Amino acid sequence: MIHKAVLISFLTFVFAASAQNKKPLYDNDYLTKEFHQSRRTALIEKMPEGSVAFFFSAPEKIRSNDVEYQFKQDPDFYYLTGCRETNSMLVIFKDEQDVDDALTHEILFIQDKNIFEERWTGVRMGRDSAKKTLGFKCTKNASDFADFKIDLKKFKTILYTDKFYDVPDDKTDRGDLASLIKHLKLKIEISEAKTNLTDLSLIMAELRQNKMPEEIVLMRKAIKMTCDAHREVMKALEPGMTEYQSQAIMEYMFKKNGSEYPGYPCIVGGAENSCILHYTTNRRKLQKGELLLMDCGAEYHDYSADVTRTIPVSGKFSPEQKIIYNIVLDAQMAGIKKCIAGNDFRDPHKEAYKIIGQKLSELGIIKNPNEAIKYFFHGTSHYLGLDVHDAGLYNALEPNQVITVEPGIYIPAGSNCDPKWWNIGIRIEDDILITTGAPENLSAGVPKIIDEIEALMKQESVFNLIR
Ligand code: GLY
Ligand code: MN
Ligand code: MN
Repeated sequence: MIHKAVLISFLTFVFAASAQNKKPLYDNDYLTKEFHQSRRTALIEKMPEGSVAFFFSAPEKIRSNDVEYQFKQDPDFYYLTGCRETNSMLVIFKDEQDVDDALTHEILFIQDKNIFEERWTGVRMGRDSAKKTLGFKCTKNASDFADFKIDLKKFKTILYTDKFYDVPDDKTDRGDLASLIKHLKLKIEISEAKTNLTDLSLIMAELRQNKMPEEIVLMRKAIKMTCDAHREVMKALEPGMTEYQSQAIMEYMFKKNGSEYPGYPCIVGGAENSCILHYTTNRRKLQKGELLLMDCGAEYHDYSADVTRTIPVSGKFSPEQKIIYNIVLDAQMAGIKKCIAGNDFRDPHKEAYKIIGQKLSELGIIKNPNEAIKYFFHGTSHYLGLDVHDAGLYNALEPNQVITVEPGIYIPAGSNCDPKWWNIGIRIEDDILITTGAPENLSAGVPKIIDEIEALMKQESVFNLIR
């Protein structure tokens, strides 16, 4: 007779194995077409009377010769369409228009299918599949736009953003992005219609700054991957490692957990490099006694995290490093407390700046609190979302916005203060969800209290086995 406990554990194993087998081959947690449709409806509500709006996909960007950078869809375009392809354009009408004998608020001009190209760079959706998969009422090939008849004169305003430069132009391709932009400009010129290049960005900022629940789900995933990666580097770091090796562990952990790529180039700066805000060279060897500033965030399904921690290479902060670190930490925690709906966007910065000014002057590093800008010379917060520096209006804080709180103090060598403070660069950055009540720190999963960092750094990492 089989013992009951053995049977249960066997069945548990079988169920777990079959659940593993049922794991989808590809991610199935992208935003749905209904999400993107709802965003187009929200846009139409905000568009001025009698207007039409044009949005372009992002261009492919050349790194060198015929090698391209990793493609990132234009965030406005992605938000409204869910389309991840270049060479495409979205048209939204405030009032329904007759297109091919049917009334529609929208046309998606999507890049043409091309069997030859698709064998090199991947399957293109094409207009039929875009209709079904992305939920568009009306789709056309991008190459159809040049001859597409549209009486722009009848619209009160034409809204578009002309934010691209360096768009590659294949003169033989009537359906590439350069051609879409060129033909829109020609049609506008011929019709002498009234254009507006600024309002569309403001409308999109107003929409994108308040996250929908589905967006917050993805942001939580990106931020969790980021916290797990920061924790692993904290455990693995030791003198003799390089900035790029720390970066490698960070990025390995991002990818291992499903992130497509970092939301921005990882900033991993030791010693003097901790004082450079957007340092990305990451080539230095790290020594005992130095600090390492890591500003790294994973991107997941287009949503970016943005988290900074500053840690001692040896695992123990020096007395001077501790003093400056705790000033930044006090400022950051006070800034987070100001992340309350109804407060001005700049309130966290004002609070953090006040504390840093007071404490640096008490230490004699500056003469009076107003001089804090010498060592804290950036803003404290920005919106976070599809872009790491996301779109938003920078007015009062509202529930469902996600912003960073990231004060810092940077004292490069040669600064006009006691040399014992030199080469201390510290930033602490968390991602904060504004709610109807207390702020929620989405990146609380990685420690920032000195004792907690030092305790975590004592733990072993699997990466210590492959040094
Ligand atoms: N990672 C860039 C920033 O913190 O704004
Ligand atoms: Mn950052
Ligand atoms: Mn930031």
